[in-house]
Amino acid sequence: MSQYRIAVVVGSLRKESFNHKLALALAHMAPENFTFEHLRIDDVPLYNQDMDGKQPPEVLRLKSEIAAAQGLLFVTPEYNRSIPGVLKNAIDQASRPYGQSAWAGKPAGVIGISVGAIGTALAQQHLRNVLAYLDVPTLGQPEAFVQNKEGLFDDKGHIGVESTAKFLQGWMDKYVAWVKTHNA
Ligand SMILES: Cc1cc2nc3c(=O)[nH]c(=O)nc-3n(C[C@H](O)[C@H](O)[C@H](O)COP(=O)(O)O)c2cc1C
Repeated sequence: MSQYRIAVVVGSLRKESFNHKLALALAHMAPENFTFEHLRIDDVPLYNQDMDGKQPPEVLRLKSEIAAAQGLLFVTPEYNRSIPGVLKNAIDQASRPYGQSAWAGKPAGVIGISVGAIGTALAQQHLRNVLAYLDVPTLGQPEAFVQNKEGLFDDKGHIGVESTAKFLQGWMDKYVAWVKTHNA
């Protein structure tokens, strides 16, 4: 059975991040031949085009982790109706120098959780726009906009609401198929 390594990019640095929790809960829903590695983005310096010829070690690490992955999973909050700056910075860094983007061709899933009712819909739409330019094939359906509610995560870190767990399992099944299709 093939093994699939998924590079997970969480757009929040917050210790108790709901998006981090959602990423962990989703990993529980994947088959055993899928492994999930969270990329570190908090130490990636701010992008400066002057550094394209001598990218910092944190950027080279990020790019090599992406290169080693068979798929990408973006789990992001919405900040002011867009994606957090820390996520955009990581995307920009790993997309450069021009022609040497680490992202191109890696199949991706986009998902997020917010305290607001629209559940990161606008952030996801902005992210899809960026990923389209970067030639990242992104799962279109189902979309998943999750709103945090008391008891959503149980004490084992799984999804504690049955209807949401069922919906997210369906999302994960499609994501798994998407990654497999793009690695066939
Ligand atoms: C700077 C900032 C901007 C925010 N903007 C939005 C927003 O546009 N839409 C939304 O639904 N929630 C917004 N929120 C609330 C987030 O949904 C909430 O803080 C969420 O917990 C962040 O995700 P995390 O738990 O993974 O850190 C914002 C929060 C911050 C700190």
